[in-house]
Amino acid sequence: INRKLQLLIINLLAVMSLCNCLVLEQCMKFNVTKPNAAPVNVSLYYESLCPGCRQFLVFQLVPTFIMLQDIMGIDLVPYGNAQEKEDQGKYIFTCQHGEDECLGNMIETCLLSMLGINAFPVILCMESGVDVLKAAQPCLGVYFPDTKWDSVMNCVKGDEGNKLMHQNAVKTNALKPPHEYVPWITVNGEHTDALQDKAMDSLFNLVCSLYKGDKPPACGQGLKKKTNSYCMN
Ligand SMILES: *[C@@H]1O[C@H](CO)[C@@H](O)[C@H](O)[C@H]1NC(C)=O
Ligand SMILES: *[C@@H]1O[C@H](CO)[C@@H](O)[C@H](O)[C@H]1NC(C)=O
Repeated sequence: INRKLQLLIINLLAVMSLCNCLVLEQCMKFNVTKPNAAPVNVSLYYESLCPGCRQFLVFQLVPTFIMLQDIMGIDLVPYGNAQEKEDQGKYIFTCQHGEDECLGNMIETCLLSMLGINAFPVILCMESGVDVLKAAQPCLGVYFPDTKWDSVMNCVKGDEGNKLMHQNAVKTNALKPPHEYVPWITVNGEHTDALQDKAMDSLFNLVCSLYKGDKPPACGQGLKKKTNSYCMN
């Protein structure tokens, strides 16, 4: 794990524990702007072991969501370049980076189904770890000590996970235009090269620029004043 990544994680964990962000919806609502327009909806089609997906999740998507959760919606679809075939009512999946990736996709799918957006810090923790799969159980333990790992694995190994992953496959295969690579990003249901490039460059700036309501202070309006603040002697 490189130094930059480590520092980012430490920062993120600090922010999250400071205000218990993703669990308490109140976080970051510093009483300045109430959302007065539809949220910008970002969907990420990805697979658990693809390096570019991991980078985008860790450095862009989750940090942006922490700052802008009042004005954005996120949908994570772990499937990516996987393939499925049906066999006697069950689906069998093949993943680009092998069976481990299928397992990682399935764990994250089950976490999302069980925990909703509260699964984001767990997924971030997994994807920023050295070993995504080995990190899964300890990462869950950090954020949800009362959620039993067995209940996640029941979903992963059972019919529920199988059905959920099939839904991810259907969603991914329905993309228009079809995805050519991952991470594949749609914004308000739309994918263009320009949107993809802007999102990869700075998702934060893209969401701020597309939001039609009053921009929250995080988007910059509030920052101007702050640069005039000094600690007087
Ligand atoms: C938030 O704003 C409302 C209305 O402007 C005000 O009544 C309230 O006291 C504020 N809350 C905080 C925590 O500043
Ligand atoms: C984003 O999704 C929400 C919930 O589905 C919807 O109400 C909202 O209109 C969407 N935002 C945009 C900009 O389409």
